Amino acid sequence: MIIDVQPNRQAATHAAARFIAHQLRIKPDSVLGLATGRTMEPVYAQLVELYRSSQLDFSRCRTFNLDEYVGLGANDRNSYRHYMDHHLFFKVNVDSKRTHVPDGLARDLDAECAKYEQLIQQSGGIDLQLLGIGNNGHIGFNEPGSTFDSRTCVKKLSLTTRQQNASHFADSGKMPDRAITTGIGTIMESRQCLLLATGADKAAIIAEALEGRLTTMVPATVLRSHPACTCIIDASAASQLRFPDGSRVSRAA
Ligand code: F6R
Repeated sequence: MIIDVQPNRQAATHAAARFIAHQLRIKPDSVLGLATGRTMEPVYAQLVELYRSSQLDFSRCRTFNLDEYVGLGANDRNSYRHYMDHHLFFKVNVDSKRTHVPDGLARDLDAECAKYEQLIQQSGGIDLQLLGIGNNGHIGFNEPGSTFDSRTCVKKLSLTTRQQNASHFADSGKMPDRAITTGIGTIMESRQCLLLATGADKAAIIAEALEGRLTTMVPATVLRSHPACTCIIDASAASQLRFPDGSRVSRAA
């Protein structure tokens, strides 16, 4: 794993956006795995800026989002489809037919998960998977205890995740308690992963994820055994690492 410590949030999010832009430039028909959440908002803003200022081309790429709340559709402002449309897809030249987010309104959720998994495989697999990290170490919505070979499935959200995300909902009681998420096995098959974490509230979990014991109770620890994972963090998120001394390469598993 390459760990890249940037001085602040802006530098870290710009570095992540440059990483994604580089992938699109070297392979314009890349299959991108995308994440949502607060951490990613400035990354998408920067990608939109690169599209406007440097003609970054999204026209040939295909995207798969990691997750979606069960029960929320595209018109719901808390759905991840809505998030992606408004932060990125409506603002760049991506073909909407090539953007995929699990259908949180699917009648048969298991069939939707199987279909999503199959679509990723049919598209040739993910070239670059962007990941945030939950306060409990989840990646996607793979909560603590998820097996490292899991596939796209429905997950019950943990209390920590519900507390982390409840503030997005005008009525926190309306936050769904389940989500569809691509599995850890699916994520680990991506040719490259990019984990981004910023802010002091991520410092403890980043220390556990990067330097703690490899365990399904901290799902992000699995990324240390990925053959091509880069972790970009800002100095605040790096503040509880034992070795927070700038860019370094760690092969620890
Ligand atoms: C969302 C996702 C989650 C978030 C994580 C961090 O699509 O996959 O794993 O990346 O919960 O969320 P923020 O950035 O809001 O702290």
